[in-house]
This record gives sequence, C-alpha cells and structure tokens, in this order.
Amino acid sequence: MAKAKTLTIITYPAATLRQKSRPLKEAELIDAEIDQLILDMAQTMKVKDGVGLAAPQVGKNLRLIVINHENGTLALINPQINWRSLLKRWEEEGCLSVPNCYGEVKRPKAIRLTFIDSAGQRKNLKAKGLLARVIQHEIDHLDGVLFIDKARRIKKINSADN
Ligand code: CO
Repeated sequence: MAKAKTLTIITYPAATLRQKSRPLKEAELIDAEIDQLILDMAQTMKVKDGVGLAAPQVGKNLRLIVINHENGTLALINPQINWRSLLKRWEEEGCLSVPNCYGEVKRPKAIRLTFIDSAGQRKNLKAKGLLARVIQHEIDHLDGVLFIDKARRIKKINSADN
C-alpha cells in the first residue's frame, strides 16, 4: 500500500464546503482509492492538529469522516445519527476549514449513530461529550454546514503565521 499523503485543506468560502456530499456505494467500500483517501485524511488530520476531518474539506464530496479518537483514528463511512439527547450544551468549536476562528455551538450532548467502518463492517456507536460534538461537527460538513452558521460569540484571532 502507498504511503499516506498530507492533503490540502479547503477553506471557507470555497463552494465545495457548501455542497451536500453523497454516500459511498457498496462497491466503493472495497476500492483501494477509498482506503488511500482514509489514510491520507487521517495523516492530514494529525499533521494539521485537528480532532476530526470530513472528506469535503479535502475536496471530496463523499460521506466519509475521520475522527481522532482515544483508541486511534476512527473512520466513519455513511454515518447516520439516529438518536440525539434532549440535553444540549454550548461549547467552543473551531475548524481547519475556517482558520483562526472560534465560536460556541449548541449541540446535543449525546448521540447514537450507525456507520460503516474502514473494514466495510456496519457499526453502532453511542457517543457523548467531545466525541459526540466532533462527530456532529463533521457530519454537518457532509451536509454543507459549517460551525460558523450556528455559532454565537464568534471570535477571530489575528495570526499571520498560524
Ligand atoms: Co470543521
């Protein structure tokens, strides 16, 4: 298998970030190109110090996200949230595609979802806290939604070299 590459992150206000991404088809799950994309996205997330990354952020409008999880990188293909807690929390978020910008977003504290993992297996996951927040932020990217659309107390940090 080829080595992982660091991909270019597409930044606001690029049109790609506003498109609705399409699900991966069954046949694409065994595609070496998708395996490579997952590897490259995982590497890019680590190099750029992100906690999650969605395929549209690297110019691919596919329903695929990677998350930096305590047990390593988690790849979620065609993720679908099927339960959200009524309890919501405001917490500060940022985004590699909206550099030097932060704001508070209100989101359900816990979620349940289904997804297909990088081995092509259908999985269920219950997430809470930061993991739930990151997954919701990344799934928003798949629907063309950015955190700045929902955020309050948006602040921009002036940085020429960040
Ligand atoms: Co983001």
